[in-house]
Amino acid sequence: MNAPLSASKKKLYIKTYGCQMNVYDSTRMADVLAPIGYEPTSEPNGADMVILNTCHIREKAEEKVYSDLGRIRPHKEKKASEGSKMLIAVGGCVGQAEGAEIIKRAPYVDIVLGSQSYHRLPDMVASALRDGGGVVDLEFPEEPKFDTLPEATAPTGKSAFLAVQEGCDKFCTFCVVPYTRGAEYSRSVDEIISEAKILVRGGAVELTLLGQNVNAYHGLGADAKDWSLAQLIKALAKIDGLERIRYTTSHPRDMRDDLIAVHGDEPKLMPYLHLPIQSGSNHMLKQMNRKHTAEDYLEIIDKLRAARPDIALSSDFIVGFPGESDEDFKATMALVESVGYAQAYSFKYSQRPGTPAADHAAQIDEDVKSKRLQLLQGLLNRQQAAFNRATVGKTFPVLFEREGKYAGHLIGKSPYLQSVHVRNAKNLMGQLVEVNITEALDNSLAGEVVLDNTNILKRA
Ligand code: 5AD
Ligand code: SF4
Repeated sequence: MNAPLSASKKKLYIKTYGCQMNVYDSTRMADVLAPIGYEPTSEPNGADMVILNTCHIREKAEEKVYSDLGRIRPHKEKKASEGSKMLIAVGGCVGQAEGAEIIKRAPYVDIVLGSQSYHRLPDMVASALRDGGGVVDLEFPEEPKFDTLPEATAPTGKSAFLAVQEGCDKFCTFCVVPYTRGAEYSRSVDEIISEAKILVRGGAVELTLLGQNVNAYHGLGADAKDWSLAQLIKALAKIDGLERIRYTTSHPRDMRDDLIAVHGDEPKLMPYLHLPIQSGSNHMLKQMNRKHTAEDYLEIIDKLRAARPDIALSSDFIVGFPGESDEDFKATMALVESVGYAQAYSFKYSQRPGTPAADHAAQIDEDVKSKRLQLLQGLLNRQQAAFNRATVGKTFPVLFEREGKYAGHLIGKSPYLQSVHVRNAKNLMGQLVEVNITEALDNSLAGEVVLDNTNILKRA
């Protein structure tokens, strides 16, 4: 017979793969399991429950999960030999996509859950303990999980994530998200503001609003009308103690004028935007079902720069989408040249089972994909280095978030989301401090705290 769940503290180890939404979901899973006695631990050895919160967006995701499961199995066996039980759960998008197949391949897995059902984890744990595993819950419940999640309690630090929107109705032909995350859903303004206040009371100075299509946000406001992301940002900016707001990921199609205007009007909204285009070729964009052209995108960039001249831009690119010609690829390179990114992510196209592009006859050779990716990444890296160099000599606020390698060495984030290393930053952890940038490295900056008594902008 198992001891009652709440009798003693149990250890919960969560491994998070992939995107920021998964990081957010992992903290919420910890919140859901806290009332039944689970508290986070940093390693699987000795844990009472291990959750792999997985990602399915690109290749090798499943294999990585199975090989991690193989590594966790001996810990479960060790625990069993000591007379106790370790539950293993696979959640997130691989859980959603693979379902019961996971338990077939790895029968020592007790629970498989999707991305929309983790608020029911306590029930799943109870039935796995009662029945010895085999629990699969992949439902997209009618009642959204957000309605039943407990208040956020897990520590999130100075910079916290807050999911405001989830799912996607865009159906880009390469992407699994509309299938693994489900239809687009926006949380209500009230719910978001109260979660934001809890996070700020818990010490957060910066909030990143999350959603697979965050700028499609249209949540219910107190006036019974749907609010846009721009309205939501303005309301959040009124919270005392909250100094920085960011949002990600956006779709060009939903980059409306009111949102662009907030970039100029609201100082708490940071001058950085991740706005994926995927390709610079209109032919590819059409094949990808992106619902915008390269010209639409460039027009949005012009408007953003008019509203906030120092805005730093980021994007996602896919090379080697089925049918991509040399000309199409050149159009991507030309678009990158004309925008000038502060940083960006680029990927080789990966066939995702069940998505329309996966069955396309004109798949591109791996070596062509690799060559294109190398060229694109070379250009993006040069742009990032140039952007970083251009900040040398400037002074801006840095939010210190983690310790560096040496004593007194802290690492924080610039308004433009660059990592900034500072050596003389003793006692400034968690604070927003004016830093003068002295050196640019390829992926980060080095700087010095501005030495006067007014430099601490926000005491933690
Ligand atoms: N192949 C390669 N990259 C992909 N992405 C999404 N699906 C695929 C795929 N099948 C990339 C897109 C998206 C980012 C999150 O991942 O660039 O914006
Ligand atoms: Fe996927 Fe983004 Fe396209 Fe939605 S908009 S289908 S999340 S790439």
